[in-house]
Amino acid sequence: MTTDVHKILVIHGPNLNMLGKREPDIYGTESLAEIDAWLRQRADAVNIELETFQTNHEGGIVEKIQEAMGRIDGLIINPAAYTHTSVAIRDAILLLDIPVIEVHLSNIYKRESFRHHSMIAGAVSAQISGLGAYGYIAALDALHSRLL
Ligand code: DQA
Repeated sequence: MTTDVHKILVIHGPNLNMLGKREPDIYGTESLAEIDAWLRQRADAVNIELETFQTNHEGGIVEKIQEAMGRIDGLIINPAAYTHTSVAIRDAILLLDIPVIEVHLSNIYKRESFRHHSMIAGAVSAQISGLGAYGYIAALDALHSRLL
């Protein structure tokens, strides 16, 4: 159980800026802007300050996590392809002393075998995989409810 959650950061990794146009049968037809708007609506309803961030660069994710240290109460992260490769993002997450939820739109365990391993799963509080855009909302609700 954590203390009150006031500020949540959502990090979207590479190619997620192309949502809506990118393999819609796998990732859905909603754009990233639409997903962020849905998250913002939910955050506003429960008085959570929300910050969303997308980058296609691994170092950009690391720097954002470092910069957020001591400033946020919860992190929701979809590292996208870096999920499967990045020790640097895992190490950055380990700097944080707050609940962190890893989100994947698709069920990574149902897909190619190289997607079955998450480098960061062992460094986060929970993982949501396969709920589509609702996974982000479920993560926000879990953080808000201080389930973690
Ligand atoms: C993803 C799954 C990853 O394997 C993939 O590289 C992505 C998106 C997802 O949200 O399902 O870019 O993280």
